[in-house]
Amino acid sequence: MRLQGRSAIITGAGSGIGRATAKLFAEEGARLALVDRDAAGLQETLSLIGEATTHVGDVGNAKFAEAVVGEVVGRHGRLDILMTAAGFSCGGTILTTDPADWDAVFRTNVGGTWLWARAAVPQMQQQKSGSIITLASQLAIAGGKGNSAYIAAKGAIVSLTRTMAVDFAADGIRVNAIAPGAIDTPMLHRSFARHANADEVREASRNRHAMKRFGQAEEIAQAALHLASNASSFTTGTVMVVDGGWLAA
Ligand SMILES: NC(=O)c1ccc[n+]([C@@H]2O[C@H](COP(=O)([O-])OP(=O)(O)OC[C@H]3O[C@@H](n4cnc5c(N)ncnc54)[C@H](O)[C@@H]3O)[C@@H](O)[C@H]2O)c1
Repeated sequence: MRLQGRSAIITGAGSGIGRATAKLFAEEGARLALVDRDAAGLQETLSLIGEATTHVGDVGNAKFAEAVVGEVVGRHGRLDILMTAAGFSCGGTILTTDPADWDAVFRTNVGGTWLWARAAVPQMQQQKSGSIITLASQLAIAGGKGNSAYIAAKGAIVSLTRTMAVDFAADGIRVNAIAPGAIDTPMLHRSFARHANADEVREASRNRHAMKRFGQAEEIAQAALHLASNASSFTTGTVMVVDGGWLAA
């Protein structure tokens, strides 16, 4: 087992990529704290993996992040892995995005990355080890249509990931981002549903990948496992693209 006894926090664990990662990390022996604002989603994830703690709240709340990290360290004595998978998108160009929606997208995606890293890093510094895995997107590199707040937020996450990697490398902390292509999760289906011609948009997105299919959440979980485990001991400050050839095509 590649994560035997490791203490891990996963945000966004109530659905999609966070849930699939929680399942895989549990199979690999990790002790998990699952975070999401969706209590029912967290319970469903818990039912798949058996044992874990669940923490319901908004990842954009600094006090919530500090409380969960404190509880996890109190329980396990350490924190080895932080994966910040909570995220959402509202769609829209800069002209059609309401400022309140823009703020909410940044609060969850960027705030949900930096506030959790901010809470976790002091413990990881004490241990002289830790792996932080953030969620970017292939769109942060490629750009994309009608999704300005989300794409800007994912770009910020890429930059934040690199800067944290540099700031904390001497502490034995590795920080890496995953940039998925379009992954078959509720988020993806919500984003298609925003379009009047949803079927057309879905097919165009599918065909934009060199592999002509969507990714599965489990395929992103495998990338997260690599970044969480010792297999990636010389990897930090990088963006691991797992996109079925979207960027190459
Ligand atoms: N699905 C894709 O195509 C895709 C592609 C690239 C990147 N991503 C990123 O991967 C991550 C996971 O996405 P997913 O596809 O699994 O989405 P999802 O909607 O299936 O899961 C996201 C989870 O985050 C939770 N969440 C959202 N905002 C929150 C908040 N403020 N506080 C607490 N929890 C919150 C939701 O309740 C949900 O359970 C996101 O960061 C997303 O941007 C997804």
